[in-house]
Amino acid sequence: MLKYQPNMKSYEEEYKNFSWQIACNELEYKDGSIINIGEYCTDRICRMGKASKLALIWEGFNGEEKKYTFDDMRVLTNTIAAFLQKVGINPGDRVCLFMDKVPELYFGFLGILKMGGIAQPLFSAFGSESLLTRLEDAGTAAIFTQKKHLPKVRNIVEQLPSLKHIIVVDDDGSKPLREKEIAFHMDKAERVNEFKVYPSKAETPSVLHYTSGTTGQPKGAQHVHYSLISQYITAKYVLDIKDEDIYWCTADPGWVTGTSYGIIGAWSNAATQCVLDAGFKAETWYKFIEKHKITVWYSAPTAIRALMKEGTEVVNKHNLSSLRHLTSVGEPLNAEAVIWSKEAFGLPFHDTYWQTETGSIVLSNYPGMKIKPGSMGKPFPGITATVVDLKTHLPIEKKGIVGMIALKPGWPAMFRTYWNNKETYDKKFQNGWYLCGDRASIDEDGYFWFVGRDDDVINTAGHLVGPFEIESALLEHPAVAESAVVGKPDPMNMEVVKAFIALKPGNEKTKMLELEIMNFVRKKLSALAMPQEIEFVDSLPKTRSGKIMRRVLRAKEWGEEIGDISTLENDM
Ligand code: WTA
Repeated sequence: MLKYQPNMKSYEEEYKNFSWQIACNELEYKDGSIINIGEYCTDRICRMGKASKLALIWEGFNGEEKKYTFDDMRVLTNTIAAFLQKVGINPGDRVCLFMDKVPELYFGFLGILKMGGIAQPLFSAFGSESLLTRLEDAGTAAIFTQKKHLPKVRNIVEQLPSLKHIIVVDDDGSKPLREKEIAFHMDKAERVNEFKVYPSKAETPSVLHYTSGTTGQPKGAQHVHYSLISQYITAKYVLDIKDEDIYWCTADPGWVTGTSYGIIGAWSNAATQCVLDAGFKAETWYKFIEKHKITVWYSAPTAIRALMKEGTEVVNKHNLSSLRHLTSVGEPLNAEAVIWSKEAFGLPFHDTYWQTETGSIVLSNYPGMKIKPGSMGKPFPGITATVVDLKTHLPIEKKGIVGMIALKPGWPAMFRTYWNNKETYDKKFQNGWYLCGDRASIDEDGYFWFVGRDDDVINTAGHLVGPFEIESALLEHPAVAESAVVGKPDPMNMEVVKAFIALKPGNEKTKMLELEIMNFVRKKLSALAMPQEIEFVDSLPKTRSGKIMRRVLRAKEWGEEIGDISTLENDM
């Protein structure tokens, strides 16, 4: 029995009667009128009489705390928007956010949207090369960053002719800034109380989120302001956000969860959000929940597994009775984690499934609906989902058969294209279905069960890393002749990166070289992309046309059948 009444009273009823118009009506949005996410998350909430309600409770690495009301947020996002206009950023320009989870990141995101810019959030953990690829592709005009990340931007600035401004949010004047660099202090800047928000329409581009695929460099999934409709209503029905909630989304806005639900879904519902800008530690997390009396928590399986590992003793040292609804996304949530969380917190984690491309939750276990531990749940009202045959792409009618998850296009938050890459975008659609690229089956009750990805993308701790990007970085190492990168099973992170490397003649297969190569990738790309394991091989399995067959290497790592290798050139 739930101790509360969920926002979505009955899943079956809602699924039958739902229309996105319900969300439009609640948001007072009329077809063809102005819709600006930045405005919806700030000004509108103030107009609803919640100006003095807390919007953000922020805690830093050393326990320092900052609090902002919706009115503070309205004014600060105005201030950022006006500043961007002043320095010559135009509507439609891409503005990157390359910062830790500081308040400037959250308000910068909304400020960019308010002046009509396209927000491009990137993980601050990225190295110069990861950054370069994405800024180059987007033709980014400005980047917000912090002093500590500035050197990584400086490394590449000369290769980025489109980049006009590097905005440093915490410059203290101790070292001179260089050409293109400007200091901007959000808290000290002259506050802009009134700002004329850019009159964006439903299809005006809003956010550009880079995501990894099997082939080629990462692709920018381009979203529009209309995504708000899905993000608002899914946050309300799946995360069950209510006015009195204190909500915590643990995701970094460099990842779509951190923007769709760490910014847009939460604040368009007028939620008070907490942000912890510190790494993972069970003790710190529980203290944070206890201190701020968090009620709704959106996290990820790797974090939950890490909490499980620490055991219930540390849970019991804290008063976590404020918690009422737990949700998870990013990787398969194992049944054990759901069962453990019931034991540890008295509440099960509810799995949700979606992608950068879908922009909002598409499958979920809903509050008030029976959870099947290990299942991703059922389609969100307004979403038509099925599994299609891997070859014919026709829906599989029979229950329990594995196919590819497919969605009927048309929900508001669906991405509108891949930036500069319409060809790849078009390939995602077959027979009138959007293909998610994940394999799953549907049971007799309509619940979806995840099986695996249908491509070579590696999901490490919920983050997708593309083998191609890592292989390209590896090739830049002087000792590497060729390489193949695959995911290897890992009890904590689900998968970790493993690289198979053939060395150039004259290089010895030493432990030293292995570590050097690992570090090389970490610096260039990020810690997540760094191979946790390197295996030196004499040659890599290739097709007759010379394409490296990662599938063969991957199957070996997972102990799976290799499948059809008739095109294989050499035997491993
Ligand atoms: C995987 C994250 C199993 C899946 C919001 C998907 C999941 C990819 C789940 C998208 C889940 C996400 N169970 N796998 N509940 N949620 N995934 O674009 O492979 O970073 O296609 O968006 O993560 O990752 P992305």
